[in-house]
Amino acid sequence: MVRSFLKDTDFTTAEATEVFSLAHRYKKLRSAGRLDVLQGQSWGLIFFKKSTRTRLSFEAGVYELGGHPMVMNANDLQLSRGETVEDTARIMGRFLHGLVIRTFEQEIVEKFAENSGLPVINALTDLLHPCQSYTDMFTMMEFFSTGEPNVESLKGKKFAFFGDTACNMAYSLALAGGLFGVETVLCGPKEFAPEPVLDKLYKDAKLPKNYRFTTDPEDAAKGANVIYTDVWVSMGKEEEKAERLNTLAPYQVNEKLFKVADKNALFMHCLPAHSGEEVSEGVLRGKHSVIFDQAENRLHVQKAIVSYLVQKNRELARA
Ligand code: CP
Ligand code: NVA
Repeated sequence: MVRSFLKDTDFTTAEATEVFSLAHRYKKLRSAGRLDVLQGQSWGLIFFKKSTRTRLSFEAGVYELGGHPMVMNANDLQLSRGETVEDTARIMGRFLHGLVIRTFEQEIVEKFAENSGLPVINALTDLLHPCQSYTDMFTMMEFFSTGEPNVESLKGKKFAFFGDTACNMAYSLALAGGLFGVETVLCGPKEFAPEPVLDKLYKDAKLPKNYRFTTDPEDAAKGANVIYTDVWVSMGKEEEKAERLNTLAPYQVNEKLFKVADKNALFMHCLPAHSGEEVSEGVLRGKHSVIFDQAENRLHVQKAIVSYLVQKNRELARA
């Protein structure tokens, strides 16, 4: 069995903690130059959807670990002319050493993992975005720790997510928060209730449910240590744009919410942001915002995820 990272819960809390220690080390050592963790390895990065941060950070990250990144737009592959995912995965397994995939259905990353024999990393699906949620927990840990960053600093912190509470970011953040004892509150309109999908994800992972959903922004923001939002129109939902902008309008993150939040609360956003929609310009660019630290950390955390998987798979192959 080859280990992959398709869901936030594919690592245990102890393993995710090791990933964060490694990410911290990579961040400190970046200027020391290229590493040899992926020496002789070629990693395929396949994109079925657009990307700026994920593509750049994985491409740079694989290079910095000593490997060769090969970026592919799914439209350029024979996949787009009817070759099956299964056969594409089998072929890639003969050439490459790992895959990073951004796509629509979660089943596609699962099929790549089942058929390629390679470690596969989920770089966003309609269901989850675990590389982003891990990066966000890591970033929170950096801000909340006194002294060396440590995951204990996440325990009991109130994390409030506003807007599309039935999207990949809301689900992934609630799961990753569950690994670290974060008190997660998802706040959005009742039409966007996360329970049906999220409770199943918790159950499948045998993780005790560790979030609550509310439609009341003041209740969610009160005393919060982190206020988080994501776009109201996720990739693939463009046809619902007008309706979403209307239904989600009461859940904009703005100065009003920071009046009731903890005075040192962080504002976080996975980006790209739509200023004036899910977040006001003042909050996005204001003193609480840590969006660029968050974005930078994608590189360090993903290098750690790749490296951790490679190390675990070497151990499994030896056993
Ligand atoms: N946050 C994030 O995944 O950004 P990109 O869509 O630019 O990769
Ligand atoms: N929910 C967003 C996240 C983008 C990083 C989307 O899927 O488009």
